[in-house]
Amino acid sequence: MAATTIRLSSYLCYLLWIVQVLSVNRDNFKTCDQSGFCKRHRNVQPGNSPYVVLADSLKITDSQISVHLLNSKTNVRLGLDLYGLQGNTARVKINELEPLKPRYEIPVGDVLIGEPKQQNLKVLDRGSGSVTLGLEKSKIVLSYSPFRVDFISGEEPLVSINSQGLLKFEHFRKKPGWVDKLTSVFSWFSQPFREAQPEEQAPAEPTEEEKKEEEGEKKEEDVKEPEQEEESGLWEETYKSFHDPKLNGPSSVGIDVSFPGFENVYGIPEHAESMALKTTKDTDPYRLFNLDVFEYELYNPMALYGSVPVMWAHNEKSTVGIYWNNAAETWIDISSTTADKNFFSKIADLVKGNTEMAQMDTHWFSESGIIDIFVMLGPRPKDVFKQYAALTGSTELPPLFAISYHQCRWNYNDQDDVRNVDANMDVYDIPFDVIWLDIEHTDGKRYFTWDAHKFPASKDMLNGLSVKGRKMVTIVDPHLKRDDNYKVYSDAKNRDMMVKGSNGVEYEGWCWPGSSSWPDFLNPEVRRWWASKFQYNEYDGSTPDLYIWNDMNEPSVFNGPEITFHKDVQHYGGFENRDVHNLYGFYVQKATAEGILMRSNNEQRPFVLTRAFFAGSQRFGAVWTGDNMGEWSHLKVSNPMLLTLNLAGITFSGADVGGFFRNPDSELQTRWYQAAAFQPFFRAHAHIDTKRREPFLLPEENMKIVRDAIRLRYSYLPFWYTLFYHGYRSGETVMSPLWVEYPEDKSTFKMDDQYLLGSSLLVKPITEQGSTGTTVYFPGNSDVWYDTETYQSYAGSQSTYVNAPLGKIPVFQRGGAIVPRKMRVRRSSSLMATDPFTLVICLNKQGEALGDLYVDDYKSYAYRNGNYIHRAFSFKNNILQSSNADPNGRGSSKEWVEKLVIVGFPKAASSVHITVAGNSQSLHHSYDSATRILTVRKPEVNIATDFTITIQ
Ligand code: NOJ
Repeated sequence: MAATTIRLSSYLCYLLWIVQVLSVNRDNFKTCDQSGFCKRHRNVQPGNSPYVVLADSLKITDSQISVHLLNSKTNVRLGLDLYGLQGNTARVKINELEPLKPRYEIPVGDVLIGEPKQQNLKVLDRGSGSVTLGLEKSKIVLSYSPFRVDFISGEEPLVSINSQGLLKFEHFRKKPGWVDKLTSVFSWFSQPFREAQPEEQAPAEPTEEEKKEEEGEKKEEDVKEPEQEEESGLWEETYKSFHDPKLNGPSSVGIDVSFPGFENVYGIPEHAESMALKTTKDTDPYRLFNLDVFEYELYNPMALYGSVPVMWAHNEKSTVGIYWNNAAETWIDISSTTADKNFFSKIADLVKGNTEMAQMDTHWFSESGIIDIFVMLGPRPKDVFKQYAALTGSTELPPLFAISYHQCRWNYNDQDDVRNVDANMDVYDIPFDVIWLDIEHTDGKRYFTWDAHKFPASKDMLNGLSVKGRKMVTIVDPHLKRDDNYKVYSDAKNRDMMVKGSNGVEYEGWCWPGSSSWPDFLNPEVRRWWASKFQYNEYDGSTPDLYIWNDMNEPSVFNGPEITFHKDVQHYGGFENRDVHNLYGFYVQKATAEGILMRSNNEQRPFVLTRAFFAGSQRFGAVWTGDNMGEWSHLKVSNPMLLTLNLAGITFSGADVGGFFRNPDSELQTRWYQAAAFQPFFRAHAHIDTKRREPFLLPEENMKIVRDAIRLRYSYLPFWYTLFYHGYRSGETVMSPLWVEYPEDKSTFKMDDQYLLGSSLLVKPITEQGSTGTTVYFPGNSDVWYDTETYQSYAGSQSTYVNAPLGKIPVFQRGGAIVPRKMRVRRSSSLMATDPFTLVICLNKQGEALGDLYVDDYKSYAYRNGNYIHRAFSFKNNILQSSNADPNGRGSSKEWVEKLVIVGFPKAASSVHITVAGNSQSLHHSYDSATRILTVRKPEVNIATDFTITIQ
């Protein structure tokens, strides 16, 4: 009876969700027109900035300048702080000088990994209208009237803030009573007369009065409130049947950021959009507001599950960008225009010739918080990634199993089902590392529990997987069933840990378990409590091979406005969800990762997949692109979506293989596996209503091709692992647009249907139905590329049509790159942990190649104590040399080198010798003149050893 009730209530919830969100019901999500602050900011007209710098307030210290900005319309003053930061980065912070209450700022240490390290600013010039500062190789010009900040490198303007004058900062104010309202109606009538006052038209020079004001107290009665006269929706708003009372009144902030000299901007995930962002002249702005969007549409600026407010501008000479450090709902308008050469000629010696200079204009506005912009000045793509990683951290090195293949479905029904899938994968010789359990595995959607009928012996099940080196992931969502007999809920409730409505009462909403409440993950104490729930004695039936999936953490609230929290939901510190919304999912994943880490005494690396994310989420695990569809268009869009996530630092990301909704046919499934085998996070997943589609269920021909694709992934794991290591060390992308490696090649700037893995592999997945080939662009004037299967070569800097019948994945290795692989593919990655390496050495036109390999225990943090091996390989003058790439790596391993495949070698060798510590030995070798491949067998040298292999 109880089980039937639970099933019924889940079903009702599901129906509620479907009804709420049926097909992308655009009506469920606000347009800019339906959002008061979005409309207000979009209505700000360029060229009318009321903000001026009060020059007398300027204070300069070593690495910071502080100054007051006066809104000459309202008399409200803002504080502007400009900081020089290490690594060619600057920070521009604008806040109210004396807010009625503190405005939300993201705690340092959470998204920003620490207080950014400051760098001295040199005053280069201080005039009456501006001050010019030197920061490393760049110059920063702060102009007073109208207020703007320009960043210049050499003679190139790169970034301008408020050059269009769109700064709008809604200061906190007292809610007007009816007397104020009458006064404001009166003043509205007298508006034309007021505007005719000459002193208000020319606010440039601060008056004597202003100067006095600056020294003295700012008087409340001096503050005018023009917005109240002109605009509605400041104190409350209604969307559909949802009322938003806006207890703090209007609080939004916005400003424009332009990129002179650039034609392309990238970033600001998550949108189902091309990599190069589009102008928003005819659409809504791009929206960043973490939402559960059912059956999302492609190629539009609507918000999705996660938000990373970072944007890059790239051209042949420079890559620069900004990070907008604000967790509230944010919209970004983009337009392309031409730069104001007149202005730039005044602040730098720039104008050469009459040609126009392109410019991308962007306009950012958030519902609350402060303006806090980090300007990263590159100058190269890899510099900006490093600069951004210095602020928000890089992707943690994942355990090896996590970058292997994952088998998921909503749901594997019971232990027998799990056992069968596990066994069948072996029968069909398809490796996999992780099997996943969705919400149905729990006792009535009570996370941290098991359905006692379906999973009576979870530990046995887990141990059965562990013997094959496999793992399990279970889902743990942040909504808690409001059931006092459910220990996790009652514990949180008793500790008063739930988010509350504005009435101060525990917030209640609907999600999978029915009536639910949500712990306030903004509270560090709640996060510690949550983390403790992953201890083995708390999470019954879990073992060290159980890892976690956080879903619905935007959070998804089936009966909430836009399927999420009401904006007036109360969080830790007296802030509203309005202030912190985009951080909720970030903190859920952070707390979960900390729990998984804690249960192993901080020794083993955690793995947590999350659907909602924010800047910095890369430190806590992987991200996937949510509920996509089993359609060709969704396979295709997975590439730009993942490229954009990579550009935004979320390098460990993937899309549901096969598509979550619908029943993809076998061709689509096959092509999807082939594509995803070369994407960072590789997981098949399917909706509960879809037909079963484990790879062994495919028709034989497709099954074999899919198996090959998965096995290919396993053979490249050493390469992937090394790539992730580089990303962890440097913040670099794992899956990269071509311009990251070929920054001067303009033809790659919008290219998002092919991409690079590191600098070594070029991938062009087939994403069109019925396609038997594709045109591949091979970059690099002097480069040569080799098909990784046939080793056919292709010259760089040209496009060629390449055959790709169903069994073929167009993947190419750059001549000049050495790629480490493991060719003995086994049932799981950990069973391959001590297997030997094959080095695939593709020679460039000079007959040379470089590469490297990172090795550790693939799972723990021992590498932090030097227990790792990082080898550098170089092939030159027919000698392969393996040397230590990093003296700090003092690890050892049983892995060894079993084969060299030297591609593009001109002739057969007469002898091949390996030399280790002065001892030489000859090696077996063979040459295929048709493919020009020299194969060298069994050097049998331990991977940690220095060696040379000489070919004669
Ligand atoms: C929504 C997630 O996006 C999907 O992957 C999952 O299967 C369902 N929730 C059920 O948990």
